[in-house]
Amino acid sequence: MQICRTVKEIRAFVQQVRSRGGSVGLVPTMGYFHQGHLALMRRARESCDAVVVSIFVNPLQFGPQEDFARYPRDFARDAAMAEEAGVAAVFAPSAEEMYPSGFATHVEVGGLTDCLCGLSRPGHFRGVATVVAKLFNIVRPDRAFFGQKDAQQLLVVRRLAADLNMDLEIVVVPTVREADGLAMSSRNVYLEPEQRRAAVVLYQSLREAEEMVRGGERDAGRVRRKIEEMIAAVPEARIDYVEIRSLPALEPVQELDAPALLALAVRFGTTRLIDNTVLNGSAADL
Ligand code: PAJ
Repeated sequence: MQICRTVKEIRAFVQQVRSRGGSVGLVPTMGYFHQGHLALMRRARESCDAVVVSIFVNPLQFGPQEDFARYPRDFARDAAMAEEAGVAAVFAPSAEEMYPSGFATHVEVGGLTDCLCGLSRPGHFRGVATVVAKLFNIVRPDRAFFGQKDAQQLLVVRRLAADLNMDLEIVVVPTVREADGLAMSSRNVYLEPEQRRAAVVLYQSLREAEEMVRGGERDAGRVRRKIEEMIAAVPEARIDYVEIRSLPALEPVQELDAPALLALAVRFGTTRLIDNTVLNGSAADL
């Protein structure tokens, strides 16, 4: 497995793969790998000759009060896990390599970013869209792989790739969970033991919503209120949002007559966790 620190190095690597007629898959990450990241890498291995994983804690997508400085990092462990997963190259640039002095261009995806995490994290998706557009231009993959866990991010990336005529396929991989249902996240390490135990309510409430809809409930407001009640009953949890939105435009919905995204963000102490499910559908509807 090759480790590339500069744009020039990763481009040379991709050029070699291409000269042999190979296809390239890209898995963008911020590192500190867990089984969710590994599922993306494995899925990429299945459909691409060479998999490139980027590891870059992108300063542009963190707000001033957010966890950029303390975001967990362990490059040696990540590199070993990537190699084990069959990754051909890791692209791990410095902040200076990605944003050299004079850098002045940002990518803004409208509409989709005005709600959910876009409201609680102003500027977040601008940072995500900018770094993802750069990674797509640097690596020029045939396919790029994103997790359902960050469903709004996935929809933003799809929109950006379509709007800017980027010639690649965006593949979604279902959320990988811990044994008790908590969605895997690099941020789970921040949780105190009692917060970690309480956090299972996110998964339980998503399952409850799915059950309600399977049982014939069509009123989005009733489903949303039930989920809010379940989460509010847990003392450690503080709701940021619980919302049901249309796919793929993320508009508010009242009637559950088509696949819709139930998305939630909840704080446990200072740790903000997100999760989601597709009601009346599956990850394939994202
Ligand atoms: P990061 O949080 O490291 O996530 C990298 C990828 O792993 C994302 O596509 C995310 O959706 C996916 N992922 C995370 N947890 C998952 C889980 N439990 N199951 C399945 N997939 C999961 O998302 C980012 O980094 C950044 O915003 C990035 C896209 C790299 C841009 O900086």
